[in-house]
Amino acid sequence: MPKRVRTAVFPVAGLGTRFLPATKALPKEMLTVVDRPLIQYAVDEAREAGIEHFVFVTGRNKGVIEDHFDRQFELETTLEVRGKTAALSELRKDLPSAGRTSFTRQQEPLGLGHAVWCARDIVGDNPFALLLPDMLFKGEPGVLRQMMDAYEEAGGNIIAVEEVPEQEVSSYGVIARGEGPDTGFRLTGMVEKPKREAAPSNLIISGRYILQPQIFNLLANQTRGAGGEIQLTDAMQTLMHNQDFTGVKYKGRSFDCGAKIGFLTANVVYALDREDIREGFIKELRKLDLGEHF
Ligand code: G1P
Repeated sequence: MPKRVRTAVFPVAGLGTRFLPATKALPKEMLTVVDRPLIQYAVDEAREAGIEHFVFVTGRNKGVIEDHFDRQFELETTLEVRGKTAALSELRKDLPSAGRTSFTRQQEPLGLGHAVWCARDIVGDNPFALLLPDMLFKGEPGVLRQMMDAYEEAGGNIIAVEEVPEQEVSSYGVIARGEGPDTGFRLTGMVEKPKREAAPSNLIISGRYILQPQIFNLLANQTRGAGGEIQLTDAMQTLMHNQDFTGVKYKGRSFDCGAKIGFLTANVVYALDREDIREGFIKELRKLDLGEHF
């Protein structure tokens, strides 16, 4: 049995430059899909997968993320006085329990690899999950749960991947696929933001990882890669010389909520999926007579 994964890391220091002006003062992770902030979806996905400790790598102007995972006594008292017990218990349900969150800061935007490295002391000598909260996944079970199943079987490092059209590969980390089924196949290589001609496949790294702690030593010495940033993909490619990496082509679909189209689409899809919203929402959409756009 591989060592259990108890800790998840959430890099939330990004500046959200693809979403200005919304993200000038508001952390992009607090943008809402229907009525939940993106970061809450990522935390929910991690809890469903059995994660017990939540590590946030934050930056300046990200204080409200910490507040979001704290009690809000004034609000709770008001809800209690007004007898809104359902809303109150929903709020409490979303909270990780006391002592189960940690916050550390990435002081400079040096890239994803550097953000992950900032969590090294908190994670210690343990395997950990890594979730990029911009990427929202709709799937049952959640993507990290699907990856845990692969981890329990194979151990080592697990990466969630998905197919994208060829012209989009250069925006992502891209993997080379070896033997095995979609639920767990060998990875034989990976490269960050390759030119289309140089991409080993159209399978991209989706923003969910299970990693072994040896990655931290490699990140400590990692030179800058694509975009002048310290890239996690480059350190993983090196780690692959000594450790197994397994790919999981997950079941479900993703929304890149760091970009406007993905975010708007996610809002529509999640709203249509909500029993308390669907009917009213469809009624309003019909009034808009959207037919001319489709
Ligand atoms: C990061 C990773 C990349 C991955 C992507 C998923 O890139 O470096 O490998 O495919 O997230 O969203 P970024 O979006 O930070 O440029």
